[in-house]
Amino acid sequence: MEKIINLSKQYGFVYQGSEIYNGLANTWDYGPMGVELKNNLKQLWWKEFIIKEPNNIGIDSSIIINPTVWKASGHLSGFSDPLIDCKECRSRFRADKLIEESTKEDLIVDGWEDSIMLDYINNHKITCPNCGKLNYTKIRDFNLMFKTNMGVIDNEGATVYLRPETAQGIFINFKNLIRTSRKKLPLGVGQIGKSFRNEITPGNFIFRTREFEQMEMEVFVKPGNEIEIFNYYQNKMIDFLKQIGFKDENYRIREHDEDELSHYSNKTSDIEFKFPFGYGELWGIASRTDFDLKAHQEASKQDMNYLDPLTNEKFIPYVVEPSVGVDRLFLATLVNAYEEEILENGETREVLRLAPKLAPIKVCVLPLVKKLENEAMNIYKIISDKYNSEFDVSGNIGKRYRRQDVIGTPICITFDYDSLDDKCVTIRDRDTMDQERVSIEKLIDYVDNKLGK
Ligand code: GAP
Repeated sequence: MEKIINLSKQYGFVYQGSEIYNGLANTWDYGPMGVELKNNLKQLWWKEFIIKEPNNIGIDSSIIINPTVWKASGHLSGFSDPLIDCKECRSRFRADKLIEESTKEDLIVDGWEDSIMLDYINNHKITCPNCGKLNYTKIRDFNLMFKTNMGVIDNEGATVYLRPETAQGIFINFKNLIRTSRKKLPLGVGQIGKSFRNEITPGNFIFRTREFEQMEMEVFVKPGNEIEIFNYYQNKMIDFLKQIGFKDENYRIREHDEDELSHYSNKTSDIEFKFPFGYGELWGIASRTDFDLKAHQEASKQDMNYLDPLTNEKFIPYVVEPSVGVDRLFLATLVNAYEEEILENGETREVLRLAPKLAPIKVCVLPLVKKLENEAMNIYKIISDKYNSEFDVSGNIGKRYRRQDVIGTPICITFDYDSLDDKCVTIRDRDTMDQERVSIEKLIDYVDNKLGK
């Protein structure tokens, strides 16, 4: 993990937030490489889950919405984590994580009652990870929503919340979406956007933060069809991970058992990724029945029924929800792609074997020596018209290749003295380091082919 964090900081993927002011705990800024990789992940998700699915559509809803939404959805009363304090050193923990992290077993504490967790902590003598004492407070529920005030008057009536998930923005627009899209069920609605949770224990770099982005879908289906749709999307999630080069041994699917299932769900699974600190949830998929639309129908007094044009049946649709955090997917992508390779000369080469689709820079154009800068710049102009490219003149050629390896650039093009005569350039492949002479005339076709365009 330390290597990934250092690489991120050094090469402009992720910086510590507010760094010149000594930072702000667990906040992160995406640098020039990071923003490209993040955008590529988002664009690919949008293409696969919205554009390529004929019956799916997108939305971009507000972050701040009517607070009644959070009452209806259950977030005001139930979106909380179990908080426990050490009375000796005042360290604060999530009780469920304290238990899970104290054991090597795959213990899932989600769903346990507070009293059961407290008994477990005391019976198993799970001491404070900070001071080693066993003297905790009772467990309290801590609501994770950030509160703020809307307008100029600082009173209760103006309290609003930063959304802790993007999903509710889709549910509350269900009627608009059906009316304006003229789509039939199963209808998938996707959204990419920021969410905020006042996490008790953020950490592990960008794995758990208080501000993060989500890519969520709500697929509205006819009751009875939800398991078929669930399986379809679960396979699609796996296909997506395969498409971006995730190795099979780096992730697993874990289905929630009855104890862990939410009361409204009839099937839920998580794709867990093997992070350097252990398996962690990457992408969840939940069959949520009609819980959300029913709750909003009741609270808003608006009819959430769907009229099936084929059968004239009226019903409240069921919902299947695949939901993934962009930042978590970003971290998993880096971990999955990072490799250290020992070369024949004994040197270590760091390389990010990113799928070309995800690579922040697709092509780097390098003049062999500074003298050839102008000629090489003509090549850069041709390539950068089509691909996000870099032009790197300074330093020895070997070091310049290494830099491109670490940021995951699939192709380097070198213009040398021979290029002046034979009108060819050398193409170096990131993964094999093989070099090939290609004529400038056929360069774009060659690059298109190599990048899979
Ligand atoms: N609408 C359902 C929902 O929000 P969730 O399991 O709470 O479900 C979905 O979140 C995904 O969002 C997670 O699988 C994870 O990838 C990401 N996520 C959740 N909390 C996060 C946090 N604090 N920091 C980064 N990503 C987070």
